[in-house]
Amino acid sequence: DWNSGNVIAEQVERIRAQVGDARVISALSGGVDSAVSTALVHEAIGDQLTAVFVDHGLLRQGEREQVEKDYVESTGVRLITVDAADTFIGHLEGVSDPEQKRKIIGREFIRTFEKVQRDLVDEARAIGGAPIKFLVQGTLYPDVVESGGGTGTANIKSHHNVGGLPDDLDFELIEPLRALFKDEVRAIGRELGIPDAIVGRQPFPGPGLGIRIIGEVTAERLDVLRRSDAIVRDELTAAGLDSEIWQCPVVLLADVRSVGVQGDGRTYGHPIVLRPVSSEDAMTADWTRVPYDVLARISNRITNEVHEVNRVVVDITSKPPGTIEWE
Ligand code: XMP
Repeated sequence: DWNSGNVIAEQVERIRAQVGDARVISALSGGVDSAVSTALVHEAIGDQLTAVFVDHGLLRQGEREQVEKDYVESTGVRLITVDAADTFIGHLEGVSDPEQKRKIIGREFIRTFEKVQRDLVDEARAIGGAPIKFLVQGTLYPDVVESGGGTGTANIKSHHNVGGLPDDLDFELIEPLRALFKDEVRAIGRELGIPDAIVGRQPFPGPGLGIRIIGEVTAERLDVLRRSDAIVRDELTAAGLDSEIWQCPVVLLADVRSVGVQGDGRTYGHPIVLRPVSSEDAMTADWTRVPYDVLARISNRITNEVHEVNRVVVDITSKPPGTIEWE
């Protein structure tokens, strides 16, 4: 019978046998899967592991701090954060096409990660340390099935491009979650002491807020979206809706403006779209019937606190035909 303690003990032993005294790196995305797989590997081999977190500037409010502080405190993982926001946003300048954005973000992620990797390999060599031979990947059982039961190379769905690494890397993969489902991964994460705010996270796409701004991505627009998104998450959590809602993308229609009246004046601001969905596996989804009073609070708060936004609308499309994300 299934028990998270047993799975941890089994994996710890297996990882130790696989790794020996080599060194390992892991890409942390802030999501549940990479957080738990990294913590599990750390449990097995301690400081032979280095975790790398790329801040691409497309994160939500508080996410970086959560990884740098709460995650590190609870796990003791040795973490390197790469501040790459300017690079990513620079490369996204003038780009509105969704596929183009995804490609650029994915490419820059790989570039950034490879650079850190090279630095770490050089560093290991310089101090005569053990070579870095392994890469941790948070692949779950449903990912394995979806990608045709792939073998030992990085096989992430093509649209999962951030965190999905190129397959010409000279690394062996460690995938301690390959036999597990999401709820089992969460149970293991809790057992390992990872804070609930991370383990209980709803899915968030690798390209982050970059695909939730319809139109060009700029630092100012990211700021507007980030503040709006924080209010939405805050109110949905306060209303106790986190388990009912699979995820709730918050989308900024940056190229759309409408007339409003805020305070004493006419405004010409942007709409924010709420996309709350209920789902089992994200393959299909229904829009969540969020209580009107909760929607009212969210709308009031956003239009009062984020002055660039003068309209809040709710997406009532199921999937299909609408995808969960707008891009
Ligand atoms: P769609 O929009 O295709 O999304 O209905 C289905 C699920 O996948 C997430 N998603 C992504 N996750 N990288 C990810 O890691 C991506 O590029 C990506 N695109 C979409 C989305 O949030 C939803 O949970």
